[in-house]
Amino acid sequence: MPRPAKIKKNNNKKEKEAVPAKKRKSFSRLRGMKDVLFDEYRYWDLVKSKAIDLARTYGFKRLDTPILEPADMYERTTGETSDIVTKEMYAFVDKGGEKVALRPEATPSLVRAYIEHGMFNFPQPIKMLWLGPLFRHDKPQAGRYRQFSQIDLEMFGEESPVADAQLILLAYNFFKELQIDVQVQINSIGCKECRKEYSNKLIAFYKERGKRAKLCPDCNKRLAKNPLRLLDCKEEKCVEVRTDAPQIVDYLCDDCKNHFTKVLEYLDELDIPYNLNTYLVRGLDYYTRTVFEIWPMDGEESRQTALGAGGRYDDLVEFMGGRPTPACGFALGVERVISKVKEKNIPLKQEDENVIFIAQLGDQARRKVFGLFEELRRSGFNVRQAFTKDSLKAQLEEANRVGAKFSLILGQKEILDGTMLIRDMESGIQEVIDYKKIRQELEKRLNNENKK
Ligand code: HAM
Repeated sequence: MPRPAKIKKNNNKKEKEAVPAKKRKSFSRLRGMKDVLFDEYRYWDLVKSKAIDLARTYGFKRLDTPILEPADMYERTTGETSDIVTKEMYAFVDKGGEKVALRPEATPSLVRAYIEHGMFNFPQPIKMLWLGPLFRHDKPQAGRYRQFSQIDLEMFGEESPVADAQLILLAYNFFKELQIDVQVQINSIGCKECRKEYSNKLIAFYKERGKRAKLCPDCNKRLAKNPLRLLDCKEEKCVEVRTDAPQIVDYLCDDCKNHFTKVLEYLDELDIPYNLNTYLVRGLDYYTRTVFEIWPMDGEESRQTALGAGGRYDDLVEFMGGRPTPACGFALGVERVISKVKEKNIPLKQEDENVIFIAQLGDQARRKVFGLFEELRRSGFNVRQAFTKDSLKAQLEEANRVGAKFSLILGQKEILDGTMLIRDMESGIQEVIDYKKIRQELEKRLNNENKK
């Protein structure tokens, strides 16, 4: 048999320590990026599971899309003049020379997936539930990150205003169940046809004497390219000028007006409070008819930190090469929702309930409890262990740290007797139990505990 190669020990201390200073650099997160650490994750679990459960009851099915997509997909859909594309997109040329982007939003990818997988052949509507990280190189501030997550719901193939109302109902219920007070801001921006006439009126309004000079530089540029966006500028001067601006609801064509009236009627019937906000136009290019945002109940400034937003986009599927398909959807900003949940001190589900810790003394006991641990875990007990530790003291410290209710302790003597010790971690009282009856004993004790 060939002899195994000897492992050379490195005893040269000097050599080990000689790490050049340049290589010892420590690293930090990029600006606007977050680590989600252990405690914070409990909030993520709560928010995600609430959204998933609720969406499923309304018939939404989960799917995923890639993080990297062709950059021109967003340029053409989110909008060439949108802030996302002009200022915020993480776009670069990859090693194959293709211009790609870290997705700044999910809707274009979901429309792409709908077309690419021929979903128009399936019974309509197609209801999608999507969850994942997005990237926007925006100025980081409270509630605004460069990597953030959305829960996104989209509905394809349904033109009825019931769909718009149902999405708003779902979003509203989501916040209600999380005990977060929100206000629904809603508007209709009509279709291509009625928007044309309105845009001309709006341009004429802003070109009236003295108004242009008051507008911010961005709005001066927007006036030529995307006049509706002037209405949702947050600059004080622009907000002042817009006060007398014509309102789009007065220019809606009959079909768009009917659609919007029905959406509002459904919201009334569902008892969902809303604010008809004629300045709400959204910063993405693809919307038609209904647009809405969910603001926290903290007044006008709260729009800076909208908890969610969405609307109808009846032309986008065709624009991206599919068959004409009406569609609507919305997205919730996970980090913003979590910060509201934290403010409310909503009790989180205690993951570490009814923890049973298994401790051992000696190698033989350790081997035996490996199996016991698996058996109890498979039977549904919430078991923990620290099998790498030898000392019982260290193991019981760990049991306390994980909040164990009971510890099961196996040593040499117990192996010989066919028993095990059970220790009540609160009182410290230890009793001997039959090894074969551990499960029954645990069930009985946990039942008694939970009745207290
Ligand atoms: P959005 O308004 O760009 O819409 O984003 C939706 C939500 O994502 C916002 O209301 C906010 O809660 C969250 N969000 C956006 N940017 C950030 C950020 N930088 N940091 C933290 N949270 C942020 C869309 O993305 C559309 N695709 C929504 C949609 C779906 N429309 C139809 N279907």
